[in-house]
Amino acid sequence: MRQRIVAGNWKMHKNAEETEDLLNELIDKIPTDLDQRVIVAPTFVNLSAAADHLEFTPIEVAAQNMHQAEGGAFTGEISAGMLESVGVRIVILGHSERRAYFHETDALLAAKVDTALKHEMEVIFCFGEELKDRHAGQHFNVVENQLKDGLFHLEASAWKNIILAYEPVWAIGTGETASPEQAQEMHEFIRDIIRKNYGNTVAEDVSILYGGSVKPENAAEIFSKPDVDGGLIGGAALKSDDFTKIVLAI
Ligand code: PGA
Repeated sequence: MRQRIVAGNWKMHKNAEETEDLLNELIDKIPTDLDQRVIVAPTFVNLSAAADHLEFTPIEVAAQNMHQAEGGAFTGEISAGMLESVGVRIVILGHSERRAYFHETDALLAAKVDTALKHEMEVIFCFGEELKDRHAGQHFNVVENQLKDGLFHLEASAWKNIILAYEPVWAIGTGETASPEQAQEMHEFIRDIIRKNYGNTVAEDVSILYGGSVKPENAAEIFSKPDVDGGLIGGAALKSDDFTKIVLAI
């Protein structure tokens, strides 16, 4: 069933003490009786402590990345089984920073998705066009190809563990947000191509989050669009007041 979700991607921010402080503030400020899901993704080193800290709260914890192999000689990497072992059941894959700075390709991401799903984890799969694509009128093609190459090898039944996050690269960390109309237009397009490939049930059930400079000031309008089911929040997820306002704006 389609869910409303607000997820905070903390990126490479917050040391152990700061992580604990921010989690405590969120536990205090976010009401416990919400329908929407609230997810936070601290850095790897703080994930285990965060998962323990959040265990009896409604706030869920996600990893920002993982390796596609079950284990082995991959210095510096983290496996799905390791995430599972510390209580992490959700992973963000394909973030534009992973694609751009760490050269993650659609094929690699497809392999990571398969491994995560094998472990019955939920995947927040990120994708989105660059500014040059939008200027060239290629944004729909780029998005369709990212989805096709990263996810469309999956069986329909696998989609219950997929959450989509459309994040136009030009709006990430730039202060420039897609207009609510641009977000809705793309989200509707995404749902349509999923409908064409998998049928109406999968298309209607999948949650499609918007990401890119979502702030307390613009969240409610973006979330009011019918195909926008929530947000993946970067900068504004690092301040408990802002993140709480965004959670409550949905
Ligand atoms: P931003 O980041 O909210 O800081 O633009 C969003 C993201 O990268 O997920």
